[in-house]
Amino acid sequence: LLSTAAAAAIALSAGQALAQCDDGEIVIKFSHVTNADNHPKGIAASLLQTRVNEEMNGTACMEVYPNSTLYDDDQVLEAMLQGDVQFAAPSLSKFEQFTKVFRIFDLPFMFKNIEAVDAFQASEAGQAMKESMVRRGVLGLEFWHNGMKQLSANKPLIEPADAQGLKFRVQPSEVLKAQFEALGASPQPMAFSEVYGALQTGVVDGQENTWSNVYGQKFFEVQDGTTETNHGALDYLVVVSTDWWDGLDAGVRDQLATILNEVTTERNAAVAEVDAQARQAILDAGGEIRELTTEQRQMWVDAMLPVWDQFIDDVGQENVDAAQALNA
Ligand code: LMR
Repeated sequence: LLSTAAAAAIALSAGQALAQCDDGEIVIKFSHVTNADNHPKGIAASLLQTRVNEEMNGTACMEVYPNSTLYDDDQVLEAMLQGDVQFAAPSLSKFEQFTKVFRIFDLPFMFKNIEAVDAFQASEAGQAMKESMVRRGVLGLEFWHNGMKQLSANKPLIEPADAQGLKFRVQPSEVLKAQFEALGASPQPMAFSEVYGALQTGVVDGQENTWSNVYGQKFFEVQDGTTETNHGALDYLVVVSTDWWDGLDAGVRDQLATILNEVTTERNAAVAEVDAQARQAILDAGGEIRELTTEQRQMWVDAMLPVWDQFIDDVGQENVDAAQALNA
């Protein structure tokens, strides 16, 4: 674990201006793993920092640590529970140790697009999920969007058989492991910060991620190409520890919640644009993007869909039905 000063130096060198907190201000450290720019989460976190530090000046002060400069996602929730960091926004695939309710978001081809994900989260069942970890001390405040996942490897992926026998990095999710096993591939859980190196050295052959992550982490540089599968969703939950949140003065808590809600609405509405820009930036940088025909895409659907059966008890048939109705 880095000291705050060392992390601050790294964050600064990575282009993120750390806030200067004044004595007496509540310091709110927000640790995340993606790049700060050209990325849905990075942009939203920076905007949140700016607004908190302007509008709550003298009361609270937010310091955002992007790029895994403070914690990897497998450490951040524990750090949050210990009070070393106050805000985190891991992907929904990273709450496996705390709850199984988010498994629905990892199921392949469950949601057609991020609009369907958004609508599901806005439903009563979706909103209740934010409180699914309260007894473990973790409270979800807002869902933040990223986008749909694409597949890449060190060889062209056109049909599911192309993935057979390959090693794919996955986030630490049982659903994602099962998804690659369904393809006859071998899933390897790994921290986000280690993926580029693992692809480069051949520790893994491929990975799945959104355009902004493929671009932001430069995965396309060390892959044969990226296949536009849109096979799954990658979304986030902004979380705090219940102890810390409940300990804030009501006025402070309300103001923070209001700013966060406004930032969420503004940036969630802009993710399609950030996603499209990242896709284009990959092409501009010489990355290969492979599009599938309807028939080819259907082969991936057929290969991956059996995974749903394995997790139906965790996610609930009623939730699956609700998600499917939103795709119509
Ligand atoms: C990943 O580990 O691939 C993603 O969850 C990273 C992120 O935060 O988008």
